[in-house]
Amino acid sequence: MARPTSPAVNADSLFDALIATAVDGIMVIDERANVLIYNAACERLFGYAAEEVIGRNVKMLMPEPYRAQHDGYVGHYLETREKHIIGIGREVSGRRKDGTTFPMNLSVGEGMVGGKRIFVGIITDLTERAARDKRIQDLQTEMWHVSRLTDMGQVAAGLAHELNQPLTAILNYSNAGREIAQEDEQKDLETIFAKVAEQTARAGNIIRRLRSFIEKREPNRIEEDLVRTVEEAIRLGMPDAADRNIRLELQAKAGLPNALIDRIQIQQVVINLMKNAAEAMENSSKREIVLGVAQASDEFLQVSVADSGPGLDKDVADKLFQAFMTTKKSGMGMGLNICRGIVEAHGGRLWAEANPGGGAVFRFNVPIAKSEP
Ligand SMILES: Nc1ncnc2c1ncn2[C@@H]1O[C@H](COP(=O)(O)OP(=O)(O)OP(=O)(O)O)[C@@H](O)[C@H]1O
Ligand SMILES: [Mg+2]
Repeated sequence: MARPTSPAVNADSLFDALIATAVDGIMVIDERANVLIYNAACERLFGYAAEEVIGRNVKMLMPEPYRAQHDGYVGHYLETREKHIIGIGREVSGRRKDGTTFPMNLSVGEGMVGGKRIFVGIITDLTERAARDKRIQDLQTEMWHVSRLTDMGQVAAGLAHELNQPLTAILNYSNAGREIAQEDEQKDLETIFAKVAEQTARAGNIIRRLRSFIEKREPNRIEEDLVRTVEEAIRLGMPDAADRNIRLELQAKAGLPNALIDRIQIQQVVINLMKNAAEAMENSSKREIVLGVAQASDEFLQVSVADSGPGLDKDVADKLFQAFMTTKKSGMGMGLNICRGIVEAHGGRLWAEANPGGGAVFRFNVPIAKSEP
């Protein structure tokens, strides 16, 4: 079949240029799996020069166990015409000259040239995509871990606070009991009350240590790109926005200075606010979350999360940030309380407003990173 080319160019030189300049690897093999064409992109991908590969069996570019099986594949296909990869394409591993492997997408087409069967392979390097997938996975693991930690910290702080009062009462009662036992010269009872007091004091110390540990836990604040931080939070926290019929938009000003933040903690705040927004719009016909990143002042950047839900309930509005304040059946009422804690630890502020177009807007400020002069 003639190649459809303009008469102004020579078809053969155009074909050569196409093969040579293609970003993807292009390889052609014959029926015996010997390499006929191996372009410059393949040289970059595999690390072998064309002279080292042309005329040799293509399996040299495959890691085990595919390498050993490949002759079988080609033979099997020629015998049975059963397609495993031909015309389909799939993710496989390539083997570089130095023996390392890399993920690649291989699509294979079949053709006839001069009465001979050839197979054309197009190879796309997936190394970068694999690295990106891994980063997202790592972040998700990290995020899950940190959100557990923060919840645990909040619960522990609450527990410590609650337990302090009964412990103080037990201590007072046991002291009173010991005095009475002393007056009545009941030696055994006196010893028992002394032991109760001693153990109560010990429990109190454990609680105090726990509280000071939680309060002292400093977040790891460094200079970060706030827009990127928010983008990543959207990817992690709302990957299914479209499935839930939610239109998500990020409005970010270009050229903003960096923020001084604990990235994971701030992402946790953004994710919590988006989660609340999505939950608030469950019964709304218009479902829209608009996130914004902008500069609030010389000192602060601001993140906003606006929704098109019913807006803030009057009774709820002034209690929003209290612990265990929830209007949801399965809510814990800790989301906003934790968020405010995180933002305030950064020296910022988190608050809610009515969205002029309907719905609610939550805004928070975080400090701009000031580089040392
Ligand atoms: N975007 C919003 N629109 C309307 N009401 C909201 C919005 N965000 C929060 N609220 C109200 O504030 C309450 C407290 O929110 P918060 O995130 O602290 O707890 P929660 O979402 O109920 O539970 P969880 O601990 O699972 O987050 C919610 O129950 C809801 O009534
Ligand atoms: Mg919530």
